[in-house]
Amino acid sequence: MSKPTLMRAPKAQDRVHIFDTTLRDGEQAPGFSMSPSEKLEVARMLERVRVDTIEAGFAAASPGDSEAIRLIASEITGPTICSLARAGEADVDAAARALEPARRKRLHVFLATSPIHREAKLKMSRLEVLRAIEKALVHARGRFDEIEFSAEDALRTEPDFLIEAMSCAASFGADVLNVPDTVGVSEPGEIRALFASLAQKVVRPEHVIFSAHCHNDLGLAVANSLAAVQGGARQIECSINGIGERAGNCSLEEVVMALRVRADIFGVDTHLDTTGLWPASQKLTRVTGAALSPNKAIVGKNAFSHEAGIHQHGMLSDRRTYEIMTPESVGSPGSALVLGKHSGKHALTQRLSQLGYQPDPDTLNTTFIAFKAYADEHGEATDADLVALMEQRSQSG
Ligand code: KIV
Ligand code: ZN
Repeated sequence: MSKPTLMRAPKAQDRVHIFDTTLRDGEQAPGFSMSPSEKLEVARMLERVRVDTIEAGFAAASPGDSEAIRLIASEITGPTICSLARAGEADVDAAARALEPARRKRLHVFLATSPIHREAKLKMSRLEVLRAIEKALVHARGRFDEIEFSAEDALRTEPDFLIEAMSCAASFGADVLNVPDTVGVSEPGEIRALFASLAQKVVRPEHVIFSAHCHNDLGLAVANSLAAVQGGARQIECSINGIGERAGNCSLEEVVMALRVRADIFGVDTHLDTTGLWPASQKLTRVTGAALSPNKAIVGKNAFSHEAGIHQHGMLSDRRTYEIMTPESVGSPGSALVLGKHSGKHALTQRLSQLGYQPDPDTLNTTFIAFKAYADEHGEATDADLVALMEQRSQSG
């Protein structure tokens, strides 16, 4: 029997960490598969937004996933880079190999704990589940900067066994204890109470960060993640545009803006630069080809549009009559100026950045010339025209 990990420093609980899973849980959903270079493009936008952790993939799942993690780990230096792994030695080794170039690496080990998963899928007893958690964490010890353990299907796990599994993971070195609502069945009151009880009953709770991972099957992923924060969670797992298995994961842009706009209620915030949210959403939409609903909160086409006369009148007097946040605060062009033949390079650079492009100086110069020619002929260049221009250039170059 291995020895549990000895005393570690308590974890600061004064902010909410954002763990982005666009490139893992998000990419797992049908229609959202990405190549390693596409994943890197999205990871650059996540770095710009300053997420704390990027879950870049599941190293043992495929050579392509492992290659994508390695590429992101070599290029992205701001956030911690993470790989998912089942609770087995081969998966932990695959994650360690893929993460080798990372400045800061996190292993994310998961094992299901609910009776339905133990009996129907794993064919394991409670004791076997505890042994497997211990064995995987002992195998991982000292090889990663951070270790996260997820009790898959936590919300349908017997409360006493969830506490036992989480305590086992904490004792054997997990820094983050993730509580996935894998099937999106929970509701805010239940999830708030569960987090509050875990914070009291799991061993030495001050030495871990509790994390929420909510799926959106009942459309409650954002509400549940916010309730988890009220119960004591200090990490939220989420994805750009809310992509993920089935109905998706908690939407990053929505949960981050809810914490920011209603700081009076939640009292804890993230470290994100929210002006990168709209550009990140645009980038993901283009890379995956999956269009957003126009009324999608924060990043949809209509999120800052006002059509009704009474609303327009209010907006002209004071934008706060109908806007609880500014388009600028999420990097959306909102009512941005028209780009035409009189516009300069600065305005073009800013709009391209809002659309998720960061061209190098040479590409910017040639794009500017092409943009002027286009504006001369057509009077103005819309966002769609600029995207077409950039995509043509990337295909021809
Ligand atoms: O939904 C889930 O349970 C997961 C785990 C792997 C964290 O995605
Ligand atoms: Zn999930």
